[in-house]
Formats: sequence, C-alpha cells, structure tokens
Amino acid sequence: MRQAGRSLPEYRAMRGGGSILDAIADPALTAELTLQPVHRYGVDAAILYSDIVVPVNAIGFGVDVQPGVGPTVEQPFVQESDLRRLRPLEPEVDTPYVLDAVRILTNESPVPVIGFAGAPFTVASYLIEGAPSRTYGRTKALMSGNPDLWFRLIERLADLAISSLRSQIDAGVAAVQVFDSWAGALSPAAYERFVQPATRRVFEAVSDVPRIHFGVGTGEILHLMADTDCDVVGVDWRVPVDVARNRLGPDTVLQGNLDPAVCLGPIDVVEAEVEDILRRNNGHPGHIFNLGHGVLPETDPAVLERIVHLVHEISPDLNCQWADG
Ligand code: CP3
Repeated sequence: MRQAGRSLPEYRAMRGGGSILDAIADPALTAELTLQPVHRYGVDAAILYSDIVVPVNAIGFGVDVQPGVGPTVEQPFVQESDLRRLRPLEPEVDTPYVLDAVRILTNESPVPVIGFAGAPFTVASYLIEGAPSRTYGRTKALMSGNPDLWFRLIERLADLAISSLRSQIDAGVAAVQVFDSWAGALSPAAYERFVQPATRRVFEAVSDVPRIHFGVGTGEILHLMADTDCDVVGVDWRVPVDVARNRLGPDTVLQGNLDPAVCLGPIDVVEAEVEDILRRNNGHPGHIFNLGHGVLPETDPAVLERIVHLVHEISPDLNCQWADG
C-alpha cells in the first residue's frame, strides 16, 4: 500500500514540513517512516520510503517534490544538450543515505523490504513535462518527432534505474518494484516500440531478486508489461483479477487491486470489495493483495487496518509465502 504512511497521524507528526527529498537525507528517519505502516497495519512487506525522482535529483537534474502535486522540474528536458544533465549515478556517492536506510531496515524490519525505481518512461515523462500532466503531449511529441533522442534519453534513465536498484539489492532489499505509473497513457504499439525494450533491460539486470512491474490504467498493455522479464504484474481496479489472469495466463503472479477510493466509503462496501477480489483470485497462490494505486491521504487508518486483517483472515495459509520464495 504505497504512501500508506500519509494516512497516519504518526507519519505527519514525524515527517514535518518540507520536501520528501530533504526528509530522506536522514536514514534513521527514513527507516522509521518505512516501518510505520508495517507496525500500524501488519502488512507483509515494507516499501522503502523514497521517491522515483531521487536518482535524477541526486545527479543534479533539479527536481522538486511538492506535497499534493508531485514532482516538478525547473528546467525540463527538451533537447540533446540536456542529456549532459543526466550523468551516470554513483549510488554510494550520490545516494548514500538511501543505502544507509536500507542497511538499517535490513536489520530492523520484521518483514521483507521492497526497493524500487521509476521505470524509464514514467521518469522521462516527469523530466519532459516538467510537472504532472494529463496528456503527456510533450513526451509523445519527443517520441514521434525525435525518436533517436527519445531512445538515448530512456536508455540513460534505464541505466540510472539499474544502478539504483543494484545498489539497493546490494544493501539488502529482498525484492524490487519498478513503477511505470503512467505507461497506461500509451497505445500498445507505442509502448512496445518506445518503452518495452528499455524497461526489459532494467528487469534483466536485477534477475537475482523477485521483480514487480507496476502501472495504472494498463489493461490494454498488460501482456506487453508482463513480457519484460518481470516476475509480478501490478493490476489496477479497472481490470478484475480473474480477467487479468485470463489475459496473462495462469503462471503470471498478479498484484492488486482494490480501488483506493473505495476505502473512503462505508466499511461494509470496503469488505465486500476485498472479498470480491479474493473470490476472483480463487485461491491462486500467485496473488499479492494490494491497492491498485497509492493510499489517498484522507483515508481513515482504521479502514486500512480492517482490510489487512480481512485479507489475512480469508487467506491465512498464504501469508508471506512469496517472501520465502
Ligand atoms: O509508499 C511510500 O510511502 C513509499 C515511498 C514512495 C513515495 N513515492 C513517497 C512519496 C514510493 C514507492 C513512491 C513512488 C512514486 N513517486 C511513484 C510511483 C508509484 C505511484 O504511486 O504511482 C510516482 C508516480 C511518484 C511521483 C510522486 N511523488 C507523486 C505522484 C507524489 C504524490 C503527490 C501527492 O502528494 O499526492 C509524490 C510525493 C510523495 N512521494 C509523497 C510520498 C509519501 C507524498 C508527499 C510527501 O509526503 O512529501
């Protein structure tokens, strides 16, 4: 449950004001914020408290993360000379605090810790648009208008993701998740040509740990996202779990897919939706229950607590099975 912390009063108290990019410079604080949802909700894994724009910011691209808005970039990526602003990441020098936080968590976390990176397309979209976008117009215009520059950009972002993920694995994370949150904006043909090869290279470089591939609104490209050498495919609530499994076959592990907005409704409706997802999964061992996207900040923590409890109650034998391999 990404951004589960945001619903917690203890998160807001400990986090204080300012940018998340400043907060994560303190590894002890990062470790505590990572574990807050584990302690409060009893989830089976922790996701490192960080952000997908941390590596590009660490090499000096100039990114800000504004609460309630998301990442913004002062000087967006427009032309070939901007490639010079994307040098290789040296994780031990550029993001030592991330690795220190992982090392603390490797000792202290009662559950497996998931490391992560932004997928090349989604990070590129932030660098090119400069701010959250509805249309991804500039990003798509770069793909079609200057494919050569597009490929050089996303191959560079793939290298950044690989360096970051490898360093998190070396520091002790048990699994990795690659967030291509906005890939659903692309047609299948555009995804296959302009995105899939770079993303596949990322997954191939981290094949020694379980690898989760996540996106939103990706129903029509799920088969292409699955075909990237990943182990688990995230599905949002727009595609029911049984329909996703029909599309991808019985051997694909799925993660999902409660609509985060359902958590704002009456508790009996929340419970019915959770039961429906588990019924559609029909006891298949290849399922990681999750929300289809991040927790909405106004969510009542008691609702999330109830969801975790209910999932454990209904599928007790399956708890944490994937973490043991
Ligand atoms: O769940 C966690 O808290 C783990 C850490 C985490 C954050 N961002 C912290 C964060 C993770 C895994 C992310 C990934 C991330 N960041 C994604 C991919 C996952 C997804 O939800 O699609 C994306 C697209 C981003 C970019 C980004 N950063 C967005 C869209 C936002 C939200 C803006 C908002 O407030 O609605 C952020 C800011 C952000 N990243 C917050 C947190 C806890 C909230 C603001 C803050 O506390 O500073």
